[in-house]
Amino acid sequence: MRSTMGLSWKWTALLSLLSALLCLIGPALAVKEHDFKKCAQAGFCKRNRDYADKAASQSSTWISPYQVALDSPSLKDGQIQAVILKTINAAGEKVRLPVTISFLQSGVARVTIDEERRQNKDIELRHGSVARKERYNEAAKWSIVGGLEPDLKAEIVHQDDSQINVQYGLEGKFEAVIKLSPFAIDFRRDGVSHIKFNERGLFNFEHWRPKVERPEGEENPEEESTWWDETFGGSTDTKPRGPESVALDISFHGYEHVYGIPEHTGPLSLKQTRGGDGNYDEPYRMYNADVFEYILDSPMTLYGSIPFMQAHRKDSSVGLLWLNAADTWVDIIKTKGSSNPLSLNAEAPSSTQTHWISEAGIFDVFVFLGPTPQDISKKYGELTGTTAMPQEFALGYHQCRWNYISEDDVKDVDRRFDKWQIPYDVIWLDIEYTDEIKYFTFDPHSFTDPISIGKQLDSHGRKLVVIIDPHIKRVDNYPINEQLQSLDLAVHDKDGKIYEGDCWPGLSNWIDCFNPKAREWWKTLYKYENFNGTMENTFIWNDMNEPSVFHGPETTMPKDNLHFDDWEHRDVHNLNGMTYHHSTFEALKSRKKGEFRRPFVLTRAFFSGSQRFGAMWTGDNLADWGHLQTSITMLINQGISGFPFSGADVAGFFGDPESELITRWYQTAAFYPFFRAHAHIDTRRREPYLLGDPYTAIATAALRLRYSLLPSWYTTFFYANRDGSPILRPMFWTHPSSEGGLAIDDQFFLGSTGLLVKPIAEKDKYSTDIWIPDDEVYYDYFTYKTVKTEQGKHVTLDAPIDRIPMLIRGGHIITRRDIPRRSSALMRFDDYTLVISVSKNNEAEGELYVDDGDSYDYLEGQYIYRKFTLTPNVLSSTDAEGRDTKKIKPGKWLKAMRDVHVQKIIVVGGTPDVWNRKEVQVQSEGRTWSANVDYHAADGAYYAVINRVGVRVGENWSIKLD
Ligand code: NOJ
Repeated sequence: MRSTMGLSWKWTALLSLLSALLCLIGPALAVKEHDFKKCAQAGFCKRNRDYADKAASQSSTWISPYQVALDSPSLKDGQIQAVILKTINAAGEKVRLPVTISFLQSGVARVTIDEERRQNKDIELRHGSVARKERYNEAAKWSIVGGLEPDLKAEIVHQDDSQINVQYGLEGKFEAVIKLSPFAIDFRRDGVSHIKFNERGLFNFEHWRPKVERPEGEENPEEESTWWDETFGGSTDTKPRGPESVALDISFHGYEHVYGIPEHTGPLSLKQTRGGDGNYDEPYRMYNADVFEYILDSPMTLYGSIPFMQAHRKDSSVGLLWLNAADTWVDIIKTKGSSNPLSLNAEAPSSTQTHWISEAGIFDVFVFLGPTPQDISKKYGELTGTTAMPQEFALGYHQCRWNYISEDDVKDVDRRFDKWQIPYDVIWLDIEYTDEIKYFTFDPHSFTDPISIGKQLDSHGRKLVVIIDPHIKRVDNYPINEQLQSLDLAVHDKDGKIYEGDCWPGLSNWIDCFNPKAREWWKTLYKYENFNGTMENTFIWNDMNEPSVFHGPETTMPKDNLHFDDWEHRDVHNLNGMTYHHSTFEALKSRKKGEFRRPFVLTRAFFSGSQRFGAMWTGDNLADWGHLQTSITMLINQGISGFPFSGADVAGFFGDPESELITRWYQTAAFYPFFRAHAHIDTRRREPYLLGDPYTAIATAALRLRYSLLPSWYTTFFYANRDGSPILRPMFWTHPSSEGGLAIDDQFFLGSTGLLVKPIAEKDKYSTDIWIPDDEVYYDYFTYKTVKTEQGKHVTLDAPIDRIPMLIRGGHIITRRDIPRRSSALMRFDDYTLVISVSKNNEAEGELYVDDGDSYDYLEGQYIYRKFTLTPNVLSSTDAEGRDTKKIKPGKWLKAMRDVHVQKIIVVGGTPDVWNRKEVQVQSEGRTWSANVDYHAADGAYYAVINRVGVRVGENWSIKLD
């Protein structure tokens, strides 16, 4: 992404004219595709695709050259250790590849494969490189935080010359059938194959070999043209270790749908990538990159990568984590009928065959056998960590643009929100706040007293987020640059010199957060006394951390750059952004001695594990309807890939959206886990109060809806933190038995609230069809009318411009705070409203989790966690964990919560016999009192409102319904 600042209006006008002309002859503004490699331009991808083609064309005679050598196979401490022998020539010469297959207590299996010669550093590097000789084996060190306890009950149940069968997992239901020659593994659940490794024989572990300099004209015994130095877009990658890719085919048997491997713009159910009608021609790529004006419906790489894939069919989910941080491509094909070509059973379910190709590193793959989507999310969360408990304000609305240009500007925007009574929590400062893009400084002319901003915001409980990027300006008299150089904490080039590149500040160096010393240094920079102008309500935005390098190969660093411990950038590229994000997260935790507060850090680049450090957003989208639609799918995909705290720029980064689009975008984003408006420096201002009649009022209503539901959002984040569950839940996740929903990616449930939302993301569209996953009763969220629905069918809802299509599924209890205020902090001690949607069976349940939204005191029991239950006879609230809350010594926040009540209960549906009444008897804390009931029955809406309920939210209470 490039700045167009400084262009005069004449130039802008000329450019607009030019681009208008270009529109006539070709596609409108879009990514410069030629800046990024296609598979055929990345040697290792091309070689592996060719290998796959060769295997397919010789299918009956193709033999994978890998065999397991097992003298005395044994399973010890849940692990099998062996060596795979790769036959590399007709003379039978072999390369040794040590393999470990681990069975974990959680039921997850892990397979790692390395190259013995490289483990022993017994290779020579070209070009006098000082890079590490081993294959990169540290991705787990950054990504994996738990779940590795071995399954000591795993046992070999069968063994002969051709295979070993290991039974493992919960109640021994899982089985790994390890085939020895050729090496392959069949993962089974209840005796049925679900995931197969190397079924198509595409396992390819490119072993190290010396480059043989041949006299000109002499033929190569093998096609070596892509093995060594490769040039792309004017940069040459020297590849000192030569070809070293690792690839494998992984088949999902009986699964037509696979999801995951963000970040891409295509549908949730991933497409085939080997051409054909409606399919992609290119594999999905994961190579974190600053992709300028990215295109929709594409397998191209974007800013972040999570190499985690999930497959689902009716009643069964399985998954896979390909833990590799190098440039990675994934081909997908689907087969109709049995994957066995000799099978006559054309009716057999479809299968998905995937082909994973990484440029470097060891092979390290985790296999999840489900069977439910919940199991998969939970176990993936155990391994890579779950969403950090957020700062509560972070779930409110964030107002950003590139740029609010001065202190006065910021204060003015803040005041205008108040004037228009529009709630918001955070205002953001993009790069222009700095003194000539020197991070950790404020511009001395336009931001003379940044603390005064912090104070004005703080008076309404609001916060400030400032951007800090990983490139450090290389300029004199900038102490941060001087320290980075003198302490030698930057990334180096292949020759060991500090790497120089170009980014916002011009000539820059990049902090190397793989270096523990760099991470310690980073902490010192954020201390309040060092980062002048920041205070307790300042938080951080990490951008450009793919890393983005203007004019670099594919807008990033050369792959032969060197990081801490001499790992090549090639090895760690996709981890780079996470280490930076992580460092900032830790730095915010140590801003002041004795301050134990949760950080908030937004990141653009990410990898498996980034969910532990904050939120992500989908980068530089466009202000058009397609991007609005795609944002929904992308965020759903983030959720099922373990990183649900996600958002997209509202209402599109590039361009000037029309009012209808902005309005629909606010309505959609009211359901983004991370809700931030942002815009490019060349766009017109579009803060919600500028939209005009009726749009400002409609956007405000969407914002107030968000704020009223904050208690439900916070509880949903609590679940994400506890068990890795998604926040926006797709139909297959909530209803794994309903077949018709497996490819639906434009509607979602919000956590377990029962709120089913389908935002309008099309111009001039004033009604929509929502797919109904079950035979429960559904109510319209706004009118409380019972909606006539049928399981597996669509129902049409009206969606005038002021309406978000939104249903409540029967059987849920939603928590809200209904008094509109200026920020979430000002709502912190407001009373609650419960909205109960009564199920077909006259039941409902729901939970509320709340803590101080800021500190780590919740780890010491300083939280309220209630379970609300409606049975046909009683409505009650109990501690969700059965704790004796009297025994908890309340801190300041918990004490203040003593005065917070559930004050209003709205019961939607249910039978008039029960709810058409004047009052109910409320019991709590040894007392009984009556509360008034207003019953409404008109136009198909039946609901009772219980007023002045008056129960303390943290206490047990009940209302008998006889
Ligand atoms: C790129 C980011 O994606 C965008 O959000 C930001 O405004 C610019 N960098 C400038 O910092």
